[in-house]
Amino acid sequence: MENPFKNDSSDTTRLDPSIVVIFGATGDLTHRKLVPALYNLAVDGLLPAHFFTIGVARRAVADAEFRDSLTSSVKQFSRRQKINEGVWKELIDHTYYVNCPFDDAESYKDLRCKIEELEAHSGMKLNRLFYLATSPDYFEIISKNLSLSGLLEETETTKARVIVEKPFGNDLPSAKLLNNSLLQSMKEQQIFRIDHYLGKETVQNLLVFRFSNGFFEPIWNHKYIDHVEISVCESIGVGSRAGYFDSSGILRDIVQNHALQLLCLVALEPPVAFEADAVRDEKVKVLKSIRRIPLDKVGSKVVRARYQSGAVDGKEVTGYLGESGVSPDSTTETYVALEFEIDNWRWAGVPFYVRAGKRLAKRTTEISIHFKEVPHLLFKDQDIKNWKSNVLSFRIQPDEGITFKISAKPPGPKLKVQPVNMDFSYGSSFGVEAPEAYERLLLDAMRGDATLFTRNDEIEQAWDLLDNVFKAWAGEGTKAPPVFGYEAGSWGPVAADELLMKKLSQGWRRL
Ligand code: BG6
Repeated sequence: MENPFKNDSSDTTRLDPSIVVIFGATGDLTHRKLVPALYNLAVDGLLPAHFFTIGVARRAVADAEFRDSLTSSVKQFSRRQKINEGVWKELIDHTYYVNCPFDDAESYKDLRCKIEELEAHSGMKLNRLFYLATSPDYFEIISKNLSLSGLLEETETTKARVIVEKPFGNDLPSAKLLNNSLLQSMKEQQIFRIDHYLGKETVQNLLVFRFSNGFFEPIWNHKYIDHVEISVCESIGVGSRAGYFDSSGILRDIVQNHALQLLCLVALEPPVAFEADAVRDEKVKVLKSIRRIPLDKVGSKVVRARYQSGAVDGKEVTGYLGESGVSPDSTTETYVALEFEIDNWRWAGVPFYVRAGKRLAKRTTEISIHFKEVPHLLFKDQDIKNWKSNVLSFRIQPDEGITFKISAKPPGPKLKVQPVNMDFSYGSSFGVEAPEAYERLLLDAMRGDATLFTRNDEIEQAWDLLDNVFKAWAGEGTKAPPVFGYEAGSWGPVAADELLMKKLSQGWRRL
């Protein structure tokens, strides 16, 4: 049977022999995302001929049992539903399990032995990619033990890299502590802080769209853009993750990372190159330029809310406080809407509105750029009730694509103005299914390309930006603003529309 691993000697992006070591190997992320991503990379012929995977977790599990559980997960979660048995066999036969309590430095010797055994067996040194897919409580100790056991040492020819999952800290001080402690064990260049939104095709396309189409850049500023809306809407509730979510909330879970990354990509200046530090330098500049919201303004610039019972997709669902694992006196927000202002030459005076929420009417992530009205409306005596200013919207998911709303005259004797859409859809334009975010990000980390990963200063700036919001919500230095309610299956609280209507003539764009 065909083996794509060994199929493509002309591919110049081919990786060096590698091993991926996943900590948290029995967890959800490994089964739903990481191993299916490795499998799909293998199908695409993007993994090197010498490639191994080791799963590490605290439970004692035999290789065979581990392989069986991964096999059923890949069948269930791979984007390619029809499994190529040859490719899968090649991958799973080179997959092993090591039992290692994360805080037991001695056990890392077993891991090291296993890696050396595989190197001896394949007759070559392997690049090492360690993936920390565990609870964040273990990030520090795993890194320390990896370093103590010599597994993070690099040579001229072999590299050792560590992917760190989110959440990266819980606030500014904890993120700084985590950064500092990781840097005791490895160099910044070895750390790959993952934000899976950056691996989404449509998110990467934002940069291509902005910087390879000459006609947008001249109008990409305060002279022509009225405001920007960024929406990360989900219809799911907290499900089985209430334990984590109740101590986190949507501001930490989505806005601090995914939504602010989207904002940065809309707002950044052209980087000097499409290279890790050049892109990240520009993102940091954006984050630094966003005005910090004073404690006493949090109530007027930020709306927080949580879902009440309602119906989603025709099914009755419980309110947040009724979810199992949520504290009865919880004030955790499942919805947030914020207004940001960017103090720089490009964006002065252009509000950036960001909203994120669970149990909303539908799952959709969108960025919309709302252009200013024309300076003088020539057709004002005509039927202009449908007239709207131009909106450029990036549909990040689902139904990925870009739509530009323009005004046009419908056919007929009367001069009317009507909005119409110019539409680009990934599905119909490219005719291929987009890879999953984790595929791209695993591949980039194996290649050592950190462009789509976040740097320490970026993470800290993002926490710093939200610091006052957390303080105000805790009632520090001001009266804590209310937690509004919204019906599950709706578009969020009325207060979120009112936030926009302080400056605009309408609330959030209908999605
Ligand atoms: C994760 C959050 O980072 O992103 C989840 O922790 C959220 O709460 C998820 O559901 C959304 O990701 P996606 O790719 O489905 O938009």
